[in-house]
Amino acid sequence: MTDFPATYGSWAVIAGGSDGVGAAFARGLAARGMNIVLVARRAPVLEDCATALEKDYGVRTRTLSLDLSTEEAIGELEHATADLDIGIFVYNAGSDSRTVEFLDRTLDEHRALVHRNCVSVLEAAYRFGGPMVTRGRGALVLVTSGAAWAGGRNLASYGASKAFDLILAEGLWAEWRERGVHVLGLVLGATDTPSLRRTLDIGDRVLADPHDVAEQALEHLADGPTWIHGSENPTGGSPFGALDRRSAVLAMSTPRH
Ligand SMILES: NC(=O)c1ccc[n+]([C@@H]2O[C@H](COP(=O)([O-])OP(=O)(O)OC[C@H]3O[C@@H](n4cnc5c(N)ncnc54)[C@H](OP(=O)(O)O)[C@@H]3O)[C@@H](O)[C@H]2O)c1
Repeated sequence: MTDFPATYGSWAVIAGGSDGVGAAFARGLAARGMNIVLVARRAPVLEDCATALEKDYGVRTRTLSLDLSTEEAIGELEHATADLDIGIFVYNAGSDSRTVEFLDRTLDEHRALVHRNCVSVLEAAYRFGGPMVTRGRGALVLVTSGAAWAGGRNLASYGASKAFDLILAEGLWAEWRERGVHVLGLVLGATDTPSLRRTLDIGDRVLADPHDVAEQALEHLADGPTWIHGSENPTGGSPFGALDRRSAVLAMSTPRH
């Protein structure tokens, strides 16, 4: 079994680490002996998570209440963790809080989503991935979505932002694979998180378990560039295969119940 602190460094940052998939990553990493920096907006939820990690796994934690859709967030995060040996960075926050048509949300809402899901992801990769490359060890996980495979109705800016994350992860994997840094673009399907339950009427949909998602990803950090959770071929390509783009977009736009 991989010795995570020895392989990567002793601290992991989880951007969006206070519930759902991010909290599952935090527990999985703490169980592997990593100290944890948790980032999210709601301070009390962060504190509860950190307290539980310390109690259950005996690791050290640090929490930062930041809004990742703001210009200064990643710079503040870098400053607040400058004294730590950051070996793993998981950029998890990124779900869409409202699935509505493009013009049914404000321009500011679109800008905030794109900032959190693209600009801050890029900045985190640059500011935290750079030192990993210099040290010759580390891991970067960018959590993306099946919405990245093709455009779709009610998914325009969200899907576009997730395609950005997928392609960014793949490009960084190509650049850093021989520099000792593992990069994984983690593609998720419907997963049972508080965000999803706030957004969608779940009905009888089969949902992935966040614990399974995080465990699988942590066991496959070195198997990038892309890991598709729940796929029979998790390192394979788009499930739309050789479909022409129009058919793929129409398939993505069909409501799934
Ligand atoms: N759940 C699914 O079915 C599903 C499907 C495909 C892909 N994904 C991807 O999986 C990832 C996780 O999704 P999720 O369902 O767990 O929900 P999420 O809302 O993306 O993540 C929840 C975590 O992120 C934090 N967060 C959200 N917005 C933030 C912001 N602006 N600034 C700082 N922290 C923020 C939340 O805490 P606060 O609210 O306190 O800030 C919480 O800790 C996302 O990237 C999403 O695109 C999820």
